[in-house]
This record gives sequence, C-alpha cells and structure tokens, in this order.
Amino acid sequence: MPNMTAMVVPRAGAKLERVEREVPRPGPKELLIRVHACGICHSDVLTVEGQMPGIAYPRVPGHEVIGSVEAVGANVEGWKVADRAGVGWFGGSCGYCVHCRRGDSFACMNVHAITGITRDGGYATHMVADLSAAAHVPDDLDEVESAPLLCAGLTTFNALRNSGARPGDLVAIFGVGGLGHLGVQFAARQGFHTVAVNRGREKEELIRSLGAHDYIDSAATDPAEALRKMGGAKAILATVTSAAAMQAIVGGLGANGTMMVIGAVGAFPIDSLDMLGKRSAVKGWYSGVAADSEDTLQFCKLHEISSINEVYPFEQAQAAYERMMSGRARFRVVLKMA
Ligand SMILES: NC(=O)c1ccc[n+]([C@@H]2O[C@H](COP(=O)([O-])OP(=O)(O)OC[C@H]3O[C@@H](n4cnc5c(N)ncnc54)[C@H](OP(=O)(O)O)[C@@H]3O)[C@@H](O)[C@H]2O)c1
Ligand SMILES: [Zn+2]
Repeated sequence: MPNMTAMVVPRAGAKLERVEREVPRPGPKELLIRVHACGICHSDVLTVEGQMPGIAYPRVPGHEVIGSVEAVGANVEGWKVADRAGVGWFGGSCGYCVHCRRGDSFACMNVHAITGITRDGGYATHMVADLSAAAHVPDDLDEVESAPLLCAGLTTFNALRNSGARPGDLVAIFGVGGLGHLGVQFAARQGFHTVAVNRGREKEELIRSLGAHDYIDSAATDPAEALRKMGGAKAILATVTSAAAMQAIVGGLGANGTMMVIGAVGAFPIDSLDMLGKRSAVKGWYSGVAADSEDTLQFCKLHEISSINEVYPFEQAQAAYERMMSGRARFRVVLKMA
C-alpha cells in the first residue's frame, strides 16, 4: 500500500509530529477519504492536552474535514469513489440501539466514536470514516472555505434551530470566534434579532457586516444587564471558552429563554432564583450528526454563508494550531492539503 502523512499528537501535552504511515484500508461500512481541507477547532485542545477520557495516543486530531472518497469498504451503499465527503465531531454509531433507533445516534450505547478523539481525524492526507459519520458535500461549496462548516457551522446552526427561538426573537451570540462568527450569520438568516457579544470593539464592524443587528462589548458593559435592557434574550448561544464569561451572561435571558452552552468550560454557578422567576433554562449542546451537517451545508449554500478563514499548509499544523489558540485568528484556521 502507498504511504500517507499525518500530523499526530504523540502523547497528551506534546507538540504535533509528522508521521508517515501506510494508507489504511476501509473496513466494512467504512470509507477511505482523501482529505482536502481540515479546520482547526478550539475543541482540538481536548486531544492535544488530553482533556477527555478515552484518548489513545498517538492520535490524529481534526473534525472539520472535507475530502473525496478514495475507496469504499464492504457493505457500503450510497457512496462511490470520488464523491465529496465531510466529517465532523460525530464519528459513527451502531444504528440499532435504542438511541440510534430514536434518532439520537450521538448517544449510541455501542459505539461512541468521536472524530479526532476515539478515532483518527483530519490532520492527515487520508482518514477512514464510519459510513454513518459521512455527510455529502454539495459540489458548488469550496472545500477549503467550507471545511469549518462541519463543526463550527454545524454546531451553531443546529443549536440555534433547536433553541426554541422564533423569527423576530432576541438572540445573543456570545463569543465571536470560529463558531461565533458563523453563529451570527445563521442567527441573522434564521430571522432572529441578532446581538453579537464579544470583549472589546475590534471585531464589531466586521461582525455587523456579517449580519449582527446590535453589538455588546462584554469588557466594557455587563452583558447580562445590557441584554435585560433590550428585553432579555430568548436564546443565548454561548461559545466563549471561559466559565466566568458564561456566568456573566446567563442573567441576560428573558422569560422562557434558553442559554445553549456550546463552549467546553467546565463548571459555572447559576442563580436558581433568577431562573425559576423567568422559567429560563441552561442547556448543553453538542454539534450534531451527519444529516445535520448536510442540512448545514445546504443552508449555507442557499444563503451564501461562509466561514472567514486563515489558510495554512497542512505541514504547518503546529503553527496553525497555535494561531487558533492565540485567539487572534480571523476567524477560523484551516489546513489545506497539497
Ligand atoms: N458543543 C459543541 O459541540 C462544540 C463544538 C465546537 C466547539 N466547541 C467549543 O466551543 C468553544 C468555542 O470554540 P471556537 O473554535 O469558536 O473557539 P475560538 O475560535 O477560540 O473562539 C472563542 C471565543 O471566545 C471568546 N472568549 C474567550 N474568553 C472570553 C472571555 N473571558 N470573555 C469574553 N469572550 C471570551 C473569544 O473572544 P476574543 O475574540 O476576545 O478572543 C473568542 O471570540 C470551545 O470551548 C470549543 O471547545 C463546542
Ligand atoms: Zn469542533
């Protein structure tokens, strides 16, 4: 078999290392994908720093993948060589347990496959994906531009459409990084009164140009109070990477409002009196499954939504990862394969 190249995390806390390996053969119900582009998500820190149980090293991170099918395993239907395929955080499920049968494959009792965590991801020239994890990618979406839609896009699109907010409602997007800059575009196109919330005013103009109707500087103003003055948010999409920041905005929910917690920040206190007085809720949200990715991609195609990216050659994955971690990227860092 020919060789492939991967940028692996050799052990928790170590820098990425370039390795050559044999190109794997896809097993039954698997696809071999030649990766064309892979976005770098803040969640890749979980693999790099070893912050999640179940990671066996060396591990290839990367769960914002677009590529093309290079080989199909046995018992694969619906896919052929050269089809464009996308893979996100959801890495596959059994399809027959009670959760899968009820449509919640992410809670699968038999397979808990997470791309870049429990199976190798897209910081590589090739990867093997479970059939259930692969999304069809429309031909007219650019693969480098669109790779972040497989996690940053999917997560924000799906969280918003499941937040309970309806067109016209006040919706805040807190944290305008890789996820948040897409969240603003989705919220505006889904018909919400869209308020972007971020520290400082540096990104304000750009974020308004993406569709935000209002902007709150969370470093200069109490964001919860500012939202209450606007009537209270029906939904807050919280993508910040700080628990203290999450805590600071939750009081900005209005009656029957829901805060969709996206950022992986650990514990933060919530005021139960405030919540029961408003019947508000704080709800965690994971990205979605392959069908949700396809909905996201179609929505982006229809509404001309795209990720604003800084593109790095794949071999510079370490520098690209550090750029994402610096918080200075505008807005997503994407690896492009040669
Ligand atoms: N639930 C899911 O399915 C899911 C999916 C993907 C990602 N995630 C998680 O979502 C989070 C965001 O990911 P990302 O890739 O969008 O990260 P990112 O590009 O690094 O963006 C993070 C954003 O949070 C803001 N922020 C950080 N600390 C803040 C603070 N103290 N106050 C105000 N704003 C603050 C940053 O503001 P500045 O612009 O000022 O730096 C930036 O806008 C991460 O925790 C990631 O692990 C979850
Ligand atoms: Zn992600």
